[in-house]
Amino acid sequence: MKPGEKKEGESAEEVSRRKFFTMMGLGVGWGGMVAALGGVGAGALRYMIPSVLYEPPTIFKIGTPDNYGIGVDTKLKKERQIWVVRNERGIYVLVSICRHLGCTPNWFGDQQLFRCPCHGSIYDTRGNVVGGPAPRTLWRAAISIDPVDGQIVVNFSTRQDPDPKGTAEGLMVEEMSREVEPYFLKV
Ligand code: FES
Repeated sequence: MKPGEKKEGESAEEVSRRKFFTMMGLGVGWGGMVAALGGVGAGALRYMIPSVLYEPPTIFKIGTPDNYGIGVDTKLKKERQIWVVRNERGIYVLVSICRHLGCTPNWFGDQQLFRCPCHGSIYDTRGNVVGGPAPRTLWRAAISIDPVDGQIVVNFSTRQDPDPKGTAEGLMVEEMSREVEPYFLKV
């Protein structure tokens, strides 16, 4: 029987009420279906458009070598997580991430040491571990000179990570074995 059809003994008012509820039911059904399809469509769209994660670039320039004098330069620690170190032979870049559990150590110029505030690891200027629980020496990042503008280019994700030797002074790596390209610039 169609919604508007009259049953035997039914008044016109009853017919119109039945018609109304039938139409309401159809409306809810279609509405639900449209909403469900909309949800599926939105999910599919989200899947097709990858969410973008904005991370700092891992290759960046830090100025020319003459910007860095002998010693530890801390000015890029916050922005780039590095210390730039110059010794009598050249420049290297230490990554300022503790090798214990990843905290950020601090540089103490008066002691010539990096000290980690989390569990007390201590590193010397070469990145050797001279105290605390760190199991490895600080990473050194790969560096090169841009041939066009002469700036130092740091490749933060390419890192030197030699096996240290346990000694009476701590976990050490022979320095000359670290002062090699691309982790050291003779400038
Ligand atoms: S994270 Fe540096 S000592 Fe634990």
